[in-house]
Amino acid sequence: MRPVPTAELHLHIEGTLEPELIFALAERNGVELPYADIEELRRQYEFVDLQSFLNLYYSNMTVLQTERDFADMTRSYLTRAAAAGVRHAEIMMDPQAHLSRGVPLATCVNGVTAGLAGSEQEFGISTELIAAFLRDEPADEALAVLEELLAMNAPIIGIGLDSAEVGHPPSDFLALYERAHSAGLKCVAHAGEEGPPDYIRQALDLLEVDRVDHGIRCMEDEELVERLVAEQMPLTVCPLSNVRLRAVDTLAVHPLPGMLERGLNVCVNSDDPAYFGGYQDDNFARLQETFGFNTGQLVKLAENSVQSAFVTDERRRELLAEIEAWQNSGGADRP
Ligand code: ADE
Ligand code: ZN
Repeated sequence: MRPVPTAELHLHIEGTLEPELIFALAERNGVELPYADIEELRRQYEFVDLQSFLNLYYSNMTVLQTERDFADMTRSYLTRAAAAGVRHAEIMMDPQAHLSRGVPLATCVNGVTAGLAGSEQEFGISTELIAAFLRDEPADEALAVLEELLAMNAPIIGIGLDSAEVGHPPSDFLALYERAHSAGLKCVAHAGEEGPPDYIRQALDLLEVDRVDHGIRCMEDEELVERLVAEQMPLTVCPLSNVRLRAVDTLAVHPLPGMLERGLNVCVNSDDPAYFGGYQDDNFARLQETFGFNTGQLVKLAENSVQSAFVTDERRRELLAEIEAWQNSGGADRP
């Protein structure tokens, strides 16, 4: 299938680190990996929950040491994303995961930024950067890192909140989000991936987020669903991620079709594609195969992503026109 043009709004750049690149960077930097080869590393990609994935995700980051490493990872993602139909990407990075390893903030920020430079010309993908904060680390540390990012004028459009969700509610990060809002930054937060519907409510009421990352557990709370529909709050759903982290048992029972039917503002994203079995196009292909989504449903998902993106009106019109052109030229029915 020709991939539908989309905006990718929920993507951790460190989650795009493919096993081949992990080994190449390890060799370049003289890092000894605890795996004999790529196959042994790949055998670790069996997750039972979010934490079991995070352990490997953080451990593999040890190969990222120089600006060049961050830039190479970013360019690898853009190359693959372009083939997947991504035309605009809002990319999260986890600065604290690098600072705690002794990698300076400037190294990861400048490296990813260098990787993104020229993306529109080279890959046809416009990009933005989101600094995500680790909710299982102290909230005052997150605030200090945000202050540092602001002081160095880091080219970020917003902040996010990720890592282990349960036991780390949005309410712990009120001061961080107040600071981000006052600095004019956009605000997103993971909520309702493994955590309860109340975490989604807290993200809305306390953090005043512009988008909710995941949000699938809203479906357990009818009143919350009604509110999210009324507000057309964007939910950046990641179907293959939810299957691999066992947030859902199988793709066939994923709530996405029901969410679409209820009129929730959902879009499809790849989260950590190197770990979860696929990029945007793979997510769409599996959804089509599993639920038989037609062109109209794929267009709706793609339009939702563009409507929820932090872009100018002009860029939004361009992206919507690309989706319309895809539909007019046969949509999903044309190979
Ligand atoms: N960090 C990277 N991927 C994540 C996910 N799916 N949930 C929470 N934190 C993450
Ligand atoms: Zn995520």
